[in-house]
Amino acid sequence: MVDRKEYEKGSVSITRGSFGKPDLNRVEVGGRTLMVKDVRRRNPFLRWTLGLWLIEKEWKIYGRLKGVSGVPMPVERIDRFAFAMEFIPGRPIQRGEVLSPYFFTRLEEVLGEIHQRGVVHLDLRHKGNILISEGGEPFLIDFNSSFSFKEKGMLRRILFPLLRWVDYGGLLKLKERISPSSMTPEELARLKRFNRFRRLWIFN
Ligand SMILES: Nc1ncnc2c1ncn2[C@@H]1O[C@H](COP(=O)(O)OP(=O)(O)OP(=O)(O)O)[C@@H](O)[C@H]1O
Ligand SMILES: [Mg+2]
Repeated sequence: MVDRKEYEKGSVSITRGSFGKPDLNRVEVGGRTLMVKDVRRRNPFLRWTLGLWLIEKEWKIYGRLKGVSGVPMPVERIDRFAFAMEFIPGRPIQRGEVLSPYFFTRLEEVLGEIHQRGVVHLDLRHKGNILISEGGEPFLIDFNSSFSFKEKGMLRRILFPLLRWVDYGGLLKLKERISPSSMTPEELARLKRFNRFRRLWIFN
C-alpha cells in the first residue's frame, strides 16, 4: 500500500502541474520506483473539479490498458487525488534524435494494442508523451486527453474509427518532426492526406 504521508515524505518532484493539471512525483516505496500523478496541491476549487476529474479519468484508462507492453502499469490509487504507476527509466523523445525504424514500428504496435482495448490517445503529436526506455523501447504515457469507449454502442461504431485515424495521423506527424528522413514515400502521402482532412477537424 502506498500511503499519502509516506509518499509525500520520500517523493522527488518531476514536474509541477499548472492550472488543474497534476504534479508528477517520483517515489521509492518498498524497493520499487513509482511515478505518482497528484492534484492534491491544486487550490480546492480546481482540485475538486478539473483535478479530480483528470485523475479519475486517467486512472480508469491506465486500468483498462493494464498489461499492454509499452504502457506503464497502474499500481495504486493513493487517494481520490492521486494514483501511482510504474516508473519507466528513460526519457521523452527529442526533436532531431536518431531513432531506429524499429522504434516507430513498435510504437505503432503499442498504439494498435491501445486501440484494441477501446482507447484512443489523442495527444501523440506532443513529444513529451512518448518515452524511450533505457532499453530503447517506446512507452506511451499521458492519457489526459484520451477517451475510452464501451465495447458496444453507437459512439464506438461511429466516432472510434475516426479518432483512431486521428491517432495514426498524430503519430505520422510526430515521426515527421522527430526524424523526417525516415519517412517512407507512402507515409508522406498518408500524412499529406491526413493534413488535408485535419483542416476540417475541430480539435486542432
Ligand atoms: N510512468 C512514467 N515513468 C517515467 N516518467 C514519466 C512517467 N509518467 C510521466 N513521466 C514524465 O513526466 C512528464 C509529464 O508526464 P505526463 O505527460 O503524464 O503529464 P502531464 O500532466 O500531461 O504533463 P505535460 O503537460 O508536461 O505533458 C513526462 O514527459 C515524463 O517525462
Ligand atoms: Mg504530457
